[in-house]
Amino acid sequence: MTANPIETDGFSLDNFIQACQQRVDTRLQHWLNQPRSLAPDLLEAMAYATFNGGKRIRPVLVYAAVQAVDGQPAAADDIAAALEMVHSYSLVHDDLPAMDNDDLRRGKPTCHIQFDEATAILAGDALQCLAFEVISQAPLSGDIRIKMVEILARASGTEGMAGGQALDLAAEGQQLELEALETIHAHKTGCLIQASVQMGAMTSATTSARQFTALDQYAQAIGLAFQVQDDILDVVGSREELGKQPGADSALNKATYPGILGLEAARELAQELCQQAIAALAPFDAKAEPLRALARYIVTRTH
Ligand code: IPE
Ligand code: IPE
Ligand code: MG
Ligand code: MG
Ligand code: MG
Repeated sequence: MTANPIETDGFSLDNFIQACQQRVDTRLQHWLNQPRSLAPDLLEAMAYATFNGGKRIRPVLVYAAVQAVDGQPAAADDIAAALEMVHSYSLVHDDLPAMDNDDLRRGKPTCHIQFDEATAILAGDALQCLAFEVISQAPLSGDIRIKMVEILARASGTEGMAGGQALDLAAEGQQLELEALETIHAHKTGCLIQASVQMGAMTSATTSARQFTALDQYAQAIGLAFQVQDDILDVVGSREELGKQPGADSALNKATYPGILGLEAARELAQELCQQAIAALAPFDAKAEPLRALARYIVTRTH
C-alpha cells in the first residue's frame, strides 16, 4: 500500500484501491500458482474465475478496515485473498444454468461457458476450500484464525450468502414485501461484505468493542447498499461497463430494489444507506477515510 495514503489532503481512493488490488493479487497468485497438479484443468478454471478483472471490493474493504484500526496490511493479505476466493466462487455458482444462467462475467465468458458445468461447479467448491486453507495458515494467532474460520463459514453458509442465494432463487417471479427483499440482499451480498470489514479489523490486537460495533453498523449499511446499486446497474448499466449482461434480473423476474421501489427510490435508498454508513464511523478519525470514501464509491459506481 502507498505510504500514508490518508494523512494528507490528497487521499485518492483510486490509488488506495489500486494498491489494495496489487497486494491481494500478489497473494492470490501465490495461492493459485501452487504446484497442485492432480487436476490441472480444475486449477486453471479456479484461476480463470479469480483473475478476470474483478473490482476486489471485499479485499479493499479488508485493507480499509485494517487502516481504520491502525493495523498492518501485511497481516491481512491472506484474509483479503480468502474473501476474494469465496466471492469468486459465489459468482461462478451464481452464473450456472441452475441459478442465474449467465454467460458473461467480468467481460469474459462465464466459467461454465469457458470450461464446462462440472468444472465450474468443482472450481467453485475448490475455491471455497482453498479460502479456508489460506486462513488456517495466515500469519495470525491460532485463536484469531479459528474465530475467522467461524466468521467466514457463517457469512457464506446457510445463515449467510448461500442462504441468501436460496431465498433469491425462491423469490423469482414472486411479489415480495420490502422487508423480505432486504433479507435476501443482506444475506446473499451483505454478509460477505460484513465479514470483510470484521475480519480486517480483527487483524489488529487493539481494536476495541466500540470500534467493532461501529464497523459492523457501517458494514451492514454498505453491504445492503452494494446490492441495491448492483440491482440499479442491472437496469441502467451497459454490457461494456458492467462486463455482464444488463437486464438479467428482469429477464428472470428477480426480486430487486428498482423492481419493488422504482429506480428513483432505489437510488435514494442507496444514498441514505451511504449516509448511515458514514455516520456509523463517527468514533473514527481520518484513518477511516478509505472506509468513508468506499461507502460513497459503492453507491456511485458504474460497474
Ligand atoms: C457482484 O459483485 C455480485 C454481487 C455480490 C453483487 P461485484 O460487483 O463485487 O463483482 P466483481 O468481483 O467486481 O466482478
Ligand atoms: C449475486 O447477486 C450475489 C452472490 C452471492 C454471488 P447477483 O446475481 O445479483 O450478482 P450478479 O448481478 O450476477 O453479479
Ligand atoms: Mg444471483
Ligand atoms: Mg447473478
Ligand atoms: Mg445482480
